[in-house]
Amino acid sequence: MLSFYKTGLILVFFSLSLGEGVRLRNNGQFPRTFLFGAATASYQIEGAWREDGKGLSIWDEFTHRVPSPISNNDTGNIACDSYHRWKEDVHLTASLGVQYYRFSVSWTRLFPNGYVDKINEKGLRYYNNLIQEILRCGLIPVVTLFHWDLPLKLFYDGLSWTNPELIDHYVNFTRVVIQNFPQVGRWITINEPRILCRFSYGEGILAPGIKESGILDYQCSYVILKAHAAVYRMYKKEFPNYKAPMSIVMDCQWYEPETKDPEDVAAAERQQQFECGMYYHPIFNGDWPPVVKARVAERSKKEGYKKTRLPQFTSEEIKFIKGTHDYLAINHYFTFLAGEEPEAPYTETHYENDVRVINSRMPNWELGSNSWAIVPWGARKVLNWIKQQYGDQDILITELGVADDGTSLEDDERIDFYSFKAS
Ligand SMILES: *[C@@H]1O[C@H](CO)[C@@H](O)[C@H](O)[C@H]1NC(C)=O
Ligand SMILES: *[C@@H]1O[C@H](CO)[C@@H](O)[C@H](O)[C@H]1NC(C)=O
Repeated sequence: MLSFYKTGLILVFFSLSLGEGVRLRNNGQFPRTFLFGAATASYQIEGAWREDGKGLSIWDEFTHRVPSPISNNDTGNIACDSYHRWKEDVHLTASLGVQYYRFSVSWTRLFPNGYVDKINEKGLRYYNNLIQEILRCGLIPVVTLFHWDLPLKLFYDGLSWTNPELIDHYVNFTRVVIQNFPQVGRWITINEPRILCRFSYGEGILAPGIKESGILDYQCSYVILKAHAAVYRMYKKEFPNYKAPMSIVMDCQWYEPETKDPEDVAAAERQQQFECGMYYHPIFNGDWPPVVKARVAERSKKEGYKKTRLPQFTSEEIKFIKGTHDYLAINHYFTFLAGEEPEAPYTETHYENDVRVINSRMPNWELGSNSWAIVPWGARKVLNWIKQQYGDQDILITELGVADDGTSLEDDERIDFYSFKAS
């Protein structure tokens, strides 16, 4: 999974949405309410990293480090040059015959140092033009309010996702975006908080590169869930006339038990709860998943911590976060086998020791260019799991696909993936 983020490949993913109450019949046809779309993110496509008043984000700083943490020394300085070629990009998307175009707003293009004071008019004009063009092409604009490119100045001032003080700044930033773009069709507060928290603050391989697994990754999850809820509550309170639904995008992968052995079945379920459940459970059901609370508490104690390393929600916070969704948005990319792993020594604090699962692959699974196995039936399994955990929800699959290395437009692998039929 990491190589995808490391190589900085620019990928456009198809997405599917199943409208409420729609029943899919197995006749190879999608109902009319089923939406197809394509998804992008500001740092991945815009380029123009210092143009027209844009400030620097933590990704600008991260990709310019020497030695570079990114393969091939790639940066997003130019990326797809969508800051200049937005019109062409929207037209190309429309020509695919899809119904929506997903993009994220770059915080520092609107507020160069992150503080919500004077807006950068040129940034505002860029997103306005983009949205108008999307609408002119008959597409629905789906907007991600935060896709990882935190303002560098805020980070230098100690305001990142491990600090609850960031929440107010984030709410104020999103308020201005929402105010200015009333024609957005769907809102997404944050993209993939799991990847963000775990790999930015736990493993240190995504910007800002902090490595404190089992501590700061959990703190980030805690702050991000409160930030998501704060934006959702602000939106409902201050924009009662807006109809666009709002949610958070979670990446939910599939973990298939390695054997029918109850320990392996429990391991797969535990990993599902530590990943997908970590964010959906507080939002859809309330509080952390019980198995996550129990595991982190147990290991924290045996590792000699005075209290659990997982920040605990107060009952007010549980209520504040629960129910902050108008639909369920999911990114799905890969499947692994999951099996029981022996308990790691209590001398080492690490998220993976809390999860305690061994992942493997079937030898016959093909791999995409980023070494994620291509297992199309995983998407169905994870959707069934979601239904069983969170009930019937209006679902938007905001990313689903196979990575290639970008050297060819012959993407037969991806076509096979999308056209897979369950036997
Ligand atoms: C990346 O940058 C470093 C430092 O400037 C340089 O030594 C190295 O050759 C570069 N690697 C590539 C693949 O361009
Ligand atoms: C957020 O906006 C509110 C209302 O304008 C203001 O009172 C508050 O100070 C702002 N918070 C931050 C952190 O800028």
